Amino acid sequence: MSVIEKLVVERIEKEVIEAFSFCDLPLTTGEIDPSKEEKFGDYQCNLAMKLSKELKKAPREIALMAADALSKSELLEKVEVAGPGFLNLYLKKDVVEEWLVGAFESEDLLVPKVSPEKVIVEFSSPNIAKSMHVGHLRSTIIGDAIARLMEFLGYDVLRLNHVGDFGTQFGMLISYLKKYHPEALKDGNDCDLETLVGWYKAAKKKFDEDDEFKTISREEVVALQSGEEKSVEAWKALCSISRKGFHEIYDLLDVHIEERGESFYNPILQKVVDDFKEKGLSKEDGGAQCVFMEGFQNKDGDILPLIIQKSDGGFNYATTDLAAFHYRVEEDKAKRIVVVTDLGQKMHFSMVYAAAKLVGYMDDTKTRFDHVPFGLVLSPDGKKYKTRSGETEKLSDLLEEAVDRAKSLLDARGIEDNEDIAKVLGISAVKYADLSSNRIKDYTFSYDRMLRFEGNTAAFILYAFVRIQSIKRKAGVDLESVTENIILEHPSERALALHLMRFGEILHKMKEDLLPNHLTEYLYHLAEKFNLFFRDCPVIDSPNMHSRLKLADLAGRHLEKGLSILGIGTIDRM
Ligand code: ARG
Repeated sequence: MSVIEKLVVERIEKEVIEAFSFCDLPLTTGEIDPSKEEKFGDYQCNLAMKLSKELKKAPREIALMAADALSKSELLEKVEVAGPGFLNLYLKKDVVEEWLVGAFESEDLLVPKVSPEKVIVEFSSPNIAKSMHVGHLRSTIIGDAIARLMEFLGYDVLRLNHVGDFGTQFGMLISYLKKYHPEALKDGNDCDLETLVGWYKAAKKKFDEDDEFKTISREEVVALQSGEEKSVEAWKALCSISRKGFHEIYDLLDVHIEERGESFYNPILQKVVDDFKEKGLSKEDGGAQCVFMEGFQNKDGDILPLIIQKSDGGFNYATTDLAAFHYRVEEDKAKRIVVVTDLGQKMHFSMVYAAAKLVGYMDDTKTRFDHVPFGLVLSPDGKKYKTRSGETEKLSDLLEEAVDRAKSLLDARGIEDNEDIAKVLGISAVKYADLSSNRIKDYTFSYDRMLRFEGNTAAFILYAFVRIQSIKRKAGVDLESVTENIILEHPSERALALHLMRFGEILHKMKEDLLPNHLTEYLYHLAEKFNLFFRDCPVIDSPNMHSRLKLADLAGRHLEKGLSILGIGTIDRM
């Protein structure tokens, strides 16, 4: 993928690698890190320590040679050799100031764009006739943030909702509804998802207890799968009741996604099994077609089967996912496929991906696949999270409660007419709390914590944004017409500017490891650095007012863009 503009850190890296050319070793990878503390410069490089063994020289000696070569640098003001052989790199002020001029003019804040390859981001993926639970909420929030990032970077993104809309359970549900609630199976019924979920449970109970009902349900599955009109119509009605329920949540979250459920892949499931059989890659085992692959053993060392066709001839979850790989590569022409699900499905995706490579549906030199797992949602008492209503979790209640609580906080601060602000603040708090914890770990859901105005929270960051808007309003200067550039005098100005410059670096890192907490952390530090700048540098009526207003404005634009990538809107008072 071609990067159109270059990150400043990449330009520094290039110079540093050139400075080490005396050692005649191939150096290509990223060896520059931002310094942890200001006294260690702006960036740091540990290359001398790494090369010491191979070069049979003391790291300090190597570092001194590199520092000497870097004294002619176009970007660096100063290079220090510290400790046993670290290089502390200080950027030239005019390099930062020049970047600020470009960023101020640039709508996308000088973030390098990529070539517009097709990327599929599959997320949310709830199941028809079942309630959408907190796991699906996590998938939705994380997946939407990843999709927004990819869109911003310039990829051609296809957002897919792989809803569970297929399987034998629909036979049972349709039979039950035909008998007890035929009105629900008509087009245009006004049934809601909660009621449907209740019926699903009743149908399941009946199925387990009543043999006659079991038989009818099985016949119904056959009718549905053979495309019998009445059954298909009934199934469509169920899907549309569920869809309405799901979209209630997507609307609250401002998430857009295209539904392409499991059933979409039905026409190619047989082909998938045939492909494995023809290539001799699957075996019959207890009547089922299975793929056995090295590397997937149980504790006793037996290779685990990946079942692609059940003994009754039916296809399963794995068959559908194999078909999805095939379709996404061949028809969608995806260059990268990202699938966001709970950590519990990690093994499933490792096996399906390995099988897809084996049969030739996936070639990792051409298409990259990332399974993006996330941990459980826990309540503050450490147990698995349940909403107040207990068993039937209603996600809209959860989101509405966050909005209600945000409203009370705003009321307490004396902010009037606050409905719209409360909505942004409440939903932001839920999203931000989720995104700011490392997704692989379990995450504790706490309204109190997520709605704090201090610390790494949405409110803290939104508050910094609000302050910036209010300074700009007070100053009343049309920044577009200001010709003076930003000048960096105070260390707090420089620290803020350097942080702004790192925005693109963070986004490109997030696109690799798909961890949104890099961006939340970045924004948290940005808000802090802005607050320090604002404490240390008077803006209104200062001789540097125009420069400082521009810097504040640029900080605000970074906050706004960063939040928007996380799916979080902004407000102008709170
Ligand atoms: N419907 C599944 C669930 O609720 C998630 C689907 C994940 N995606 C996939 N391609 N298998 O757990």
